[in-house]
Amino acid sequence: MKFNELIRRKSLDRLAADATRSGNLPLKRSLGAWDLTSLGIGAVIGAGIFAVIGTAAAGGASQNGAGPAVSLSFVITAIACAFCAFCYAEFASIVPIAGSAYTYSYATLGETVAWIVGWVLILEYGIGNVAVAIGWSAYFDQLLHGLGIHIPAWLAVDWRSAHQAAGAALAAGGSVPSHMAKALEAWNTAPAIGGIHVIFNVLAGGVVAFITWILVIGVKESARFNNVMVVLKLLILVFFIVVGAMYVKPSNWSPFMPNGFTGVWIGASLIFFAFIGFDAVSTAAEECRNPGRDMPIGIIASLGICTVIYVATAIVLTGIEPWQKLGVANPLASAFSSIGLDWAAGIVSLGAVISMTAVLLVFQLGQPRIFFAMSRDGLLPKYFARVHPKYRTPHVTTIWSGVAVGSIAAVTNINEMVELTNIGTLFAFVLVCAGILILRRTEPDRPRTFRTPLVPLIPLLGIAMCVYLMLGLPRATWLRFGLWLAAGIAVYFAYGYRHSLLKKRG
Ligand code: ALA
Repeated sequence: MKFNELIRRKSLDRLAADATRSGNLPLKRSLGAWDLTSLGIGAVIGAGIFAVIGTAAAGGASQNGAGPAVSLSFVITAIACAFCAFCYAEFASIVPIAGSAYTYSYATLGETVAWIVGWVLILEYGIGNVAVAIGWSAYFDQLLHGLGIHIPAWLAVDWRSAHQAAGAALAAGGSVPSHMAKALEAWNTAPAIGGIHVIFNVLAGGVVAFITWILVIGVKESARFNNVMVVLKLLILVFFIVVGAMYVKPSNWSPFMPNGFTGVWIGASLIFFAFIGFDAVSTAAEECRNPGRDMPIGIIASLGICTVIYVATAIVLTGIEPWQKLGVANPLASAFSSIGLDWAAGIVSLGAVISMTAVLLVFQLGQPRIFFAMSRDGLLPKYFARVHPKYRTPHVTTIWSGVAVGSIAAVTNINEMVELTNIGTLFAFVLVCAGILILRRTEPDRPRTFRTPLVPLIPLLGIAMCVYLMLGLPRATWLRFGLWLAAGIAVYFAYGYRHSLLKKRG
C-alpha cells in the first residue's frame, strides 16, 4: 500500500468529464439569495423542532435536559452551524460541480478522506431519516387518533422503547412517567410469538416505503414545491407560538436552568439535529447567480430565521408545560392537548406530518445519490450504480436505502438515532472545516467564488464548537460511531481501495 494512493485525488477536469459523460448540461445559474434561504429552511425544519426539542428540554430517564433553557441550546447550536456553513460554502464553490461533501473532498483532500466523509454522510442522511420517520409516526398517530382511527400501540412504537417502559414499570411497581405510557401499553397488549412480544412501528416503516416508491418512479423536487413547504412550515410554527403564548404560565420557566450549563450543553448536542440540512444550501453554489454575495446571505438568513423561530417555539413550549413532561415524541401537539386545545393539537400535528414528509423526501433523495456516486467511482460495487431503464432513477440504491431506513425506523428509538446522526454529521463538519484550513495552504490560488471570512479563525471555531457538541453525546453513541467508522475503513480497504476507478485509470 502506498501513501500517495491513499491521497489520490480526482482532478477537476475528471470531475467535469464524469459529470457530463451522462449527458448533463451545465446547471443553470438561476438562484438568488431568497431561493437559497428558502432551500435552507425547507431542508431544516422537521423532526428537530417538532420532536427532538422535547427530549432536549426534558433529558433522558434521569431528566438531565436543558429545561426551559433549551432556547439557549438552540442559540449555541446555531452559532456552531454558522461557522461550519461558511466553510461548507467555500468548499462547494471551489469544486464547480454540484455534489455533496463527498464529491468536494474527492477533488481536494483525496480518496480516503472522501470515502470517510461519504461513509459518515450515510449517518446524516440515512440514520437522520430513521429519526424523522419515527417523529413522523408519532404525529401521524396523533392525527389519526383525532380522526377516531386507533392504531394498536404495538404497531405504533418500537420494541426497544416498549421493553424499556416495561422495565421501568417493573422497577416502579407498575406506574411509569406519562411519556412512557404508550410504550407500556404496547408491551402489555402486544401479541407474543414464542414468548417474544411482537412490536414494531409500522407507521414509521410504512412512510419510508411510500417515499421510496415515489422516488423510484421519479419525482422532481421543484423549487415551487419547496417554497410552498417553507411557507407552510413557518406558518405552522408561528401558529404554535401565537396560540401557545396565550397559555404560558411563567412559573413553568423557573428554574430556568434546572441542570445548570451541563443540561444546556447536552440539550445543544441533541438539538443540533434541528439544524441539519442547512448544508444543502451550499451544495447549490454552482446554480447561484452571484455566489460570493448570495451564498453568505442565504446561509445566514436561513440559519437566522430558523433560530429566531426555534427559540420562540422553545420559550412558548416550556411556558405551556412543565419541562419534565416534554420528553414525548410529539411535544408540540401534546402540550396543546394537555391544556385542552385538541383542535390546535390537530392543526400542529397536520403541519408537522407535512413538514416531516418534505424532509424525508429530501434526505431519502440525497442518500442513494451518495451511494450512487461512490459506486460510479468504483468504491462500491457497480451494482449500486444501476439506473432504472424506464424511470431513469438510481433505483437500486433508492430501494436499498428505503429497505434499510424503513426497517431500522420500525424497530429503533428516536433518541438513539438522533444522537448517532448528530455525531456523524458533526464529524463530517469537522472534516469540512479542517479541509478549508488545508486547502488555503495547499491550493491558495485555486479560484473560489466564495471565501470564508477570517480564516483561520472561523474554521477553527467551527471545529472547536463541533467537537464540543460531540462531547455532549453519550458514551454509547461514541461507541456506535467508532464501530461505524471502523466498519467503513474495513470496507474501503477490502473493496474500494482496490477497485477505485481512479486507481485503474492511473
Ligand atoms: N433538520 C431536520 C429535521 O429536523 C433533519 O428534521
